[in-house]
Amino acid sequence: MTQATNRQVLLKSRPKGIPQAENFEIQETAVPQIQDGRILIRNIYLSVEPAMRGWVSAVANYSEPVPIGGVMRAFATGRVDQSGHPDFVPGEFVTGMFGWQDYALVKPETIQRKVDPSLPISTSLGILGLNGLTAYFALLEVGRPEPGETIVVSSAAGAVGSCVGQIAKIKGCRTIGVTSSVAKAKICSDEFGYDAVVNYNSNDLERSIGRLCPDGVNVYYDNTAGSISDAVLQHISVGARIVICGTASVPSWDPPPLAPRVERRILVRRARMQGFLVFDYADRYDEALAILTDWVKSGKLRYREEITNGIESAPGSIASLYRSENMGKRLIRIAPE
Ligand SMILES: NC(=O)c1ccc[n+]([C@@H]2O[C@H](COP(=O)([O-])OP(=O)(O)OC[C@H]3O[C@@H](n4cnc5c(N)ncnc54)[C@H](OP(=O)(O)O)[C@@H]3O)[C@@H](O)[C@H]2O)c1
Repeated sequence: MTQATNRQVLLKSRPKGIPQAENFEIQETAVPQIQDGRILIRNIYLSVEPAMRGWVSAVANYSEPVPIGGVMRAFATGRVDQSGHPDFVPGEFVTGMFGWQDYALVKPETIQRKVDPSLPISTSLGILGLNGLTAYFALLEVGRPEPGETIVVSSAAGAVGSCVGQIAKIKGCRTIGVTSSVAKAKICSDEFGYDAVVNYNSNDLERSIGRLCPDGVNVYYDNTAGSISDAVLQHISVGARIVICGTASVPSWDPPPLAPRVERRILVRRARMQGFLVFDYADRYDEALAILTDWVKSGKLRYREEITNGIESAPGSIASLYRSENMGKRLIRIAPE
């Protein structure tokens, strides 16, 4: 049943660096009335992404910044509550950019796709959503791993990283994970099948990568930039592919640190470093989702979700990712399924 009010998380002030809870406020407003062929969606799961830091920043990015006072941009999965469009029926599960709010009144084109309820619908925001798609296309199209090659993955236990490590194993690679704690290193080995894992907080990462990759790193899947990359790049092989997927360490740089220059190493090793944006592959999502779904259903691809309850946990949730607290895909459940 449609509830009386719509709680929305608004951007209150533009953060300097990592967005904190105080940069947001929750307002209650009326649930929008259905009109003009639109669809009213009751959000159930809200997604939390490291990329949200960029979405609220005024610094040039691949998308316009969320305006001050605007509903926080976010992927969400919910149920069609009322429909003014024949393609969507009340009760169906759908996913798309619905924002951090209880209800979203959207045009049909805002709905990315219908969600298959035979798997937990939360997966549509993680392993069968942005994170799985990112891992799939960035690894296979940019990293182009070959059987027998060695791949190093940073943020190895995270939503994207854990998927990258497992797809690389499916493709016959040797996988080395880099992460921040003993608990995450254990998850990497036990659940995601990494051949070796380095905890960068308690080991000399550069020496560890050198020891674990005596023939060099063929693919470096970079989710962090910064000192982790500096260490791994020391060990790239001839013909290495470096996938620049994320820059998780950058928001805490103040000032930006000095670092080794990589140009000579890239030249000598004839390596390729390439940036990646998942939205560039939107016309191929269905193809990847079919494969990812098969892998999940057959148990080849495992995933972890960390779900908190209540929209009140949204404002502080981005900062928690940048404190490395999440043990898997960070989601917020705001209504029962
Ligand atoms: N290019 C694209 O199209 C695209 C699309 C989706 C996601 N991404 C990127 O992919 C990366 C992973 O995203 P995700 O959603 O799967 O998040 P995630 O890995 O589940 O969570 C973020 C992780 O980043 C690591 N981290 C945070 N602050 C750090 C720091 N200062 N130094 C080093 N590591 C730090 C932590 O992992 P540890 O505890 O292991 O250090 C943390 O758990 C992010 O950088 C994200 O922006 C890119």
